[in-house]
Amino acid sequence: MSGGEAVVTVAGEQPYDVVIGRHLLGHLPAMLGEGVRRVLVVHPAALATSAETVREDLVAAGYEVYLAQVPDAEEQKTAQVAAFCWGVLGQADFTRTDAVVGLGGGATTDLAGFVAATWLRGVRVVQVPTTVLGMVDAAVGGKTGINTAEGKNLVGAFHPPAGVLCDLAAVESMSPYDFVAGLAEIVKCGFIDDPRILELVEENTALLRDPVAAASSPVLAELVERAVRTKARVVGQDLREAGLREILNYGHTFGHAVEHVERYRWRHGAAVSVGMVFVAELARLAGRLDDDVVARHRSVLTALGLPTGYRGDRWDQLLAAMRRDKKTRGDLLRFVVLDGLARPARLEGPDPTLLAAAYAEIATEPERGTGILL
Ligand SMILES: NC(=O)c1ccc[n+]([C@@H]2O[C@H](COP(=O)([O-])OP(=O)(O)OC[C@H]3O[C@@H](n4cnc5c(N)ncnc54)[C@H](O)[C@@H]3O)[C@@H](O)[C@H]2O)c1
Repeated sequence: MSGGEAVVTVAGEQPYDVVIGRHLLGHLPAMLGEGVRRVLVVHPAALATSAETVREDLVAAGYEVYLAQVPDAEEQKTAQVAAFCWGVLGQADFTRTDAVVGLGGGATTDLAGFVAATWLRGVRVVQVPTTVLGMVDAAVGGKTGINTAEGKNLVGAFHPPAGVLCDLAAVESMSPYDFVAGLAEIVKCGFIDDPRILELVEENTALLRDPVAAASSPVLAELVERAVRTKARVVGQDLREAGLREILNYGHTFGHAVEHVERYRWRHGAAVSVGMVFVAELARLAGRLDDDVVARHRSVLTALGLPTGYRGDRWDQLLAAMRRDKKTRGDLLRFVVLDGLARPARLEGPDPTLLAAAYAEIATEPERGTGILL
């Protein structure tokens, strides 16, 4: 991308645009579409000022606007918070032609999308993700949901948005930890689909460790655009996870197990980072991936401050967690592996000694904090 804005269209029954750039609120009315009168903006307290700006813009454009301030991060992905939003919609007489805007990180876009999917069996949602993870992953693709006491994302719906606005100016205020964790999903897209991403990261590692500098850089704009293109290509062909979409889970089987064993104190991206190195080692030991691609996993991720190893005394818990993961079919563990750069494939039911050997390759001493090493 050469400055300005980029637009990626996600194919499907109702195609929609993802716009990537800076200061994009002017696009919101067009994305909301014809016939919308009332808009509910769902946002956490951290984005109250931005929500007020959105409200003022939409009121000036003639909409009736309601703000729903919700708890932070995972605290908002509950049935109680969804019910609070339904209450606001009901009291304001929202009809089927009104709309919801999700303004925040992936937790907020998941919640706002779920509220929109369920109100009157589905009203429009425009997603305005404000974190890197939200932009390249959560807000694109139409998966929405909330958590229950039994686990994450157990209740939800496929509900593609009417549009997505990725305003890169928003990431300036992100914590460096959340920012770098989000980059792990971009690196994932580099390995499974678009190796130019890896070169861009390798050429710009210092810039990419600083959200303030990165926010106004064309490098971040290009990385977000490329990662969104990868996700759009995959979900455009497979909204409901019939097959291809599985490749987006590269590094996630082991990553989810790390998150579980760490009781969700690790950031998702940090866990996925370790998961990618694990599965790269697994593919190498299975004779499918060359040493240099495995080494590249370690070098790219380390350069960003992301972890590439995990404590070596947790194998039984990790294995149990992987077996419980919803990606397991029957008794067979399934992994997305690489047969080379941008050549994703499946590995089903690997020999337990191979799994243990891959774990041994990433095993470290047990004192690794929260994963990210900035
Ligand atoms: N639907 C999907 O396909 C999908 C895919 C991946 C992840 N997810 C979900 O996304 C969530 C994680 O997303 P996340 O990492 O964005 O987390 P998040 O939404 O919890 O945001 C992380 C933190 O950053 C704050 N924040 C958000 N934007 C900010 C900004 N611009 N400046 C300062 N602070 C800001 C939030 O208030 C929060 O405290 C998880 O719930 C996960 O399940 C969904």
